[in-house]
Amino acid sequence: MKMVPLEIRDLAECIQLSQRSDPFSWPDDIWRRSLRDDHCLGLVVGGELLAVAAFSLVLDELSLLNVVVDRSARRQGLGRQLLIEGVEWMQQFGALRCVLEVRVSNSSAIALYRSLGFAEDGIRKNYYPLEGGRENALLMSADLPLAVD
Ligand SMILES: CC(C)(COP(=O)(O)OP(=O)(O)OC[C@H]1O[C@@H](n2cnc3c(N)ncnc32)[C@H](O)[C@@H]1OP(=O)(O)O)[C@@H](O)C(=O)NCCC(=O)NCCS
Repeated sequence: MKMVPLEIRDLAECIQLSQRSDPFSWPDDIWRRSLRDDHCLGLVVGGELLAVAAFSLVLDELSLLNVVVDRSARRQGLGRQLLIEGVEWMQQFGALRCVLEVRVSNSSAIALYRSLGFAEDGIRKNYYPLEGGRENALLMSADLPLAVD
């Protein structure tokens, strides 16, 4: 298993992974823009891209924009490993703190972030579109390096 920086040539693989594994998959143009302008990292296992994460960095504040693990490879620690290694990777560019937003209904992602030491900072009301309405975002943050248990 190895972590690799992703580039625009990885667009099709990112879109495929995201569409088959994330119920709120990013549209193709967001993936294209993120691969071009942000820091996207992937975990390759046996030659296959099984997890992706996208970060942006403004001054010393890192934002986790997205993380997706292949549906067939969940609960094997890939999400956790990619975020630990990804955040470490971003520290070399000056990241001192990491922030994120997550749907309040996304209990698996919230559990993952808590396991990495992220604390809850508040709620952003009606932030996400949801069929038939809107959904709140939970705001979370952690100082770096992560205090991983
Ligand atoms: C959230 C997601 C990235 C987790 O990936 P994963 O590789 O399955 O997570 P890990 O195996 O690394 O889990 C690490 C820890 O997170 C927590 N966790 C992860 N999934 C969980 C679940 N379904 N239920 C409860 N806890 C969960 C557990 O504490 C877990 O440790 P444990 O397995 O030792 O109990 C994955 O479910 C996913 O891709 N979801 C769809 C996309 C998404 O919602 N991304 C978040 C956008 S903000």
